[in-house]
Amino acid sequence: SATWFGFYLAKEITVPVQKLANGIHEVANGNLDLHIEAGTDDEIGSLMNSFNKMTFDLKASKSMLEEANIGLENTNIELDQRRRYMEILLKNVGAGVISIDKEGRVSTINKSAEKIFGITAEQAINKSYNEVFASEYLNGVKKLLEEVTCSTGGTIKRQIRLSLPDETLTLLISVAMLRDEDRNYMGLVVVFDDLTQLQKAQRAEAWREVARRIAHEIKNPLTPIKLSAQRLRKRYLNKFSDNGKVFDECTKTIIDQVEDLKSLVNEFSNFARMPATNLYPNDINKIIKDALVLYQEGHSNIKFEFKEGKHVPIFDIDREQIRRVIINLLDNAVDSIEKKGTVLIETFYDDALQVARVEIADTGCGIPQKERSRLFEPYFSTKRSGTGLGLSIVNTIVSDHNGYIRVKENYPKGSRFIIELPVRV
Ligand SMILES: Nc1ncnc2c1ncn2[C@@H]1O[C@H](COP(=O)(O)OP(=O)(O)O)[C@@H](O)[C@H]1O
Ligand SMILES: [Mg+2]
Repeated sequence: SATWFGFYLAKEITVPVQKLANGIHEVANGNLDLHIEAGTDDEIGSLMNSFNKMTFDLKASKSMLEEANIGLENTNIELDQRRRYMEILLKNVGAGVISIDKEGRVSTINKSAEKIFGITAEQAINKSYNEVFASEYLNGVKKLLEEVTCSTGGTIKRQIRLSLPDETLTLLISVAMLRDEDRNYMGLVVVFDDLTQLQKAQRAEAWREVARRIAHEIKNPLTPIKLSAQRLRKRYLNKFSDNGKVFDECTKTIIDQVEDLKSLVNEFSNFARMPATNLYPNDINKIIKDALVLYQEGHSNIKFEFKEGKHVPIFDIDREQIRRVIINLLDNAVDSIEKKGTVLIETFYDDALQVARVEIADTGCGIPQKERSRLFEPYFSTKRSGTGLGLSIVNTIVSDHNGYIRVKENYPKGSRFIIELPVRV
């Protein structure tokens, strides 16, 4: 009977256990569709049933997990798309946008805001706005933010002027408080509009009108005045016996002063009706060289140098107007040098940006920080007989060429004017 028992074990126990072991192996390899026939209803049978239930449950929870995963993935994709959309949107609005969380830390800052304030996102993100706007220049912004945070009201809109190192900006700032549905404070969103260019344009336009009128009113009587003085001289100069000197001097002064007035008025009317630009292919190096010749002869106390950029291409510019730009800048450079000094002109070409650059540096008196932003405004002059129109004409011409002009300190002393002109070759 031991032999019989042995057979029984082999057939009734070992075979199902073998089946089960195979089944577990398959499940482990991922086959959840496996079903093992129970056959008997003893312990072995119920073990089989438990195994089948387990694979069934495993299969159900696995498919639930998969579904949840797909759902999550979709939400993630959607969130990501939305986030990217918001980012692109923020990046492309001209206004500066900064959001600040409820702890007062900067949570987003867009490109325009970075540019307006001269700070980078890395410098600002997750830092307290107190820290980000700590510099003296940005103090105005900080104060405004503090004001909003302390007030209970929702939005503040205000125009402020900021004196940055290189320029003075006029900004229209609106600060809005963010609240969730339950009116809990969530932070601030700050939107900045740079009105500087707009204001400058408006001011320039107003000045242009003034210049037009002044030029018109003054120019007309000048010629008759001069002609009359000349006639008086011709007729009476040798009729005086002893007082002739006074008469001579006075009439001369009148004629000379009228000449001065005329050139002044000419400058006014040049400014008032700037001719439209005539763009033709021209060699900017040649224009500079030609202009420099005039100066090299006239000023023995000043050394004029020209470092000619080698790869500056021929490109579309208005020769007459660019000549005026160079001459105006040279005039100023010469005026800034009291005794001895150097004026250096350099040209460069940036191949990657396709920008031609002209730099005019002098070793003159330099320009105080606070005057830099007003330099290009019409009628701003620190000279006793200056018209203050030179740089504003320069600025207009450079803008008409879609270019950009700025001024920096020159080392070790003096000023450096930098003009960048786009080249379309
Ligand atoms: N190279 C320079 N160095 C120092 N100051 C300058 C220079 N260029 C311009 N400025 C300042 O800018 C002012 C405006 O220049 P501009 O518009 O040409 O008018 P103007 O020469 O008639 O004064 C000058 O009065 C002077 O104070
Ligand atoms: Mg000048």
